[in-house]
Amino acid sequence: MAKHKKAANKGKKIAFFDTTLRDGEQAPGFSMSAEEKLMMAGALCDLGVDVIEAGFAAASPGDADAVRRIAAEIEGPTICSLSRATENDIKAAGKALEPAGKSRIHIFLGTSPIHRSAKLNMSTDEVLAAIHRSVSLAVSQCDEVEFSAEDAIRTEREFLVEALECAAKAGARVLNVPDTVGYTTPDEIYDLFRHLIATVRGTENAIFSAHCHDDLGLAVANSLAAVRAGAMQVEGAINGIGERAGNCALEEVMMVFATRKDIFNIDLDIDTTKIYAASRMLSKMTGNPVPRNKAIVGRNAFAHEAGIHQHGVLNDRRTYEIMTPEHIGLPGNALILGKHSGKHALAARAKELGFKIDDDRLAAVFVAFKAMADQFGEIADAQLIELISGVTGSASAVWRLTRVEMRAAYGAQAEPFARVELEHPDRGLVTDIATGEGPIHAAFNAVQHITGMSATVEELEINHVGAKGRTDCIADIVLRINGTRFAGRSRTRDVIPAGVEAYVDAINRAAAAQNRDAFGQEKASATTDDAKDAA
Ligand code: KIV
Ligand code: ZN
Repeated sequence: MAKHKKAANKGKKIAFFDTTLRDGEQAPGFSMSAEEKLMMAGALCDLGVDVIEAGFAAASPGDADAVRRIAAEIEGPTICSLSRATENDIKAAGKALEPAGKSRIHIFLGTSPIHRSAKLNMSTDEVLAAIHRSVSLAVSQCDEVEFSAEDAIRTEREFLVEALECAAKAGARVLNVPDTVGYTTPDEIYDLFRHLIATVRGTENAIFSAHCHDDLGLAVANSLAAVRAGAMQVEGAINGIGERAGNCALEEVMMVFATRKDIFNIDLDIDTTKIYAASRMLSKMTGNPVPRNKAIVGRNAFAHEAGIHQHGVLNDRRTYEIMTPEHIGLPGNALILGKHSGKHALAARAKELGFKIDDDRLAAVFVAFKAMADQFGEIADAQLIELISGVTGSASAVWRLTRVEMRAAYGAQAEPFARVELEHPDRGLVTDIATGEGPIHAAFNAVQHITGMSATVEELEINHVGAKGRTDCIADIVLRINGTRFAGRSRTRDVIPAGVEAYVDAINRAAAAQNRDAFGQEKASATTDDAKDAA
């Protein structure tokens, strides 16, 4: 595997400690194989995080293997392993980290009264002795040591100061103050960090770090408050995954720093254009879709449906966008057509689809469109094409799925195939029969043969939606065509036509964006930029 290099640091900055592969991965439903962890570590490295917590080496042979492989392959970020405050754990972490260019052992020990009594059965003196012993040993096993006072937020302040002082004295270079149970608030954590930074002695060579959980939905806000109070490292995970409600979503903190430099003045050494790729990789790998309305990486984060918003964005996207989709590596914004949409957005989409409609006919289409949107909510392109053609009698300049038949064969001798018929205003009806790994794959192959567009499916999501006795299938697809991603969407009564229609939709968008029709001929009128609407 190619080595991933991280750009050299510059200026004063906040360190990003990514624990997607440890705290994130240990949450139910998010486990990854060593191979998958390695791929994800590559994406984190491309993003530019400072520390990758690759796992918990003593937890299992698989985790030790993942830590070792990441330490061997990923060049640039510090590679870290979690460890309890025991000799066995520390030695296992040190061994797994041997190949790393820069290694860190992350020791944690509960310090709060409830952890001391109910979990550890240790007195405060015993906790201090264990901290001193374990950090001192870890210092000899790696390049740097981080100490976490687990459940710091519910620890008595005086004892927390003592515990962190003890860790610093034993050689810890990072003093982590976790809100293990997601209990704190921005004001409280700000005050705590101010107090610790002013009070803990012997920290000239150490930094303070925040590790917040999201049980009350405050992980990002609390992490930012800690940074304002002087924390120099933020811990978190991509998509905010982690124990229970998750960790602080690192991509959100990154974009806060990128967008509100006026408040935080952080010199961001992160390639934010890699955020979307890292987020999608994680979601695909673990099979956990990102909620549609999730900040920064949700599908709606840059989508607009309300007419007033769409009108504003069409005139100047800054009216309703504080950051651009390109900032996170998402090419183009998405205007969603639904019952809240206005005439401007409808006209823009009709133009993208190749219709030339005058104002009178647009008014008639708009009335029919609103009626359809009341029934279906969001309107997919294929539905819109049918509607406009029906109302105006004119044809769009794009391909339309008119028929699909397939055989879902299974077994050694059986070969799935699909017969697809598409219609184009210039080429009329064209049919192709193709085979594939499965019937949908065969249908996609047939569409490729007909349109001459070669595409790779990057994402395909089909959901059943509906109420009042009617259910439909909504298919969302993302194709990679000549290195660019194009999204397609469809809504039909059944899974199969939904998937194929969404595929055709994305092909049409790619053809329009490439300023040529679907046969590769130059188009008379270009709509290149308008039509590009990926993912
Ligand atoms: O939440 C927590 O306290 C942790 C520690 C291991 C840092 O994940
Ligand atoms: Zn945690």
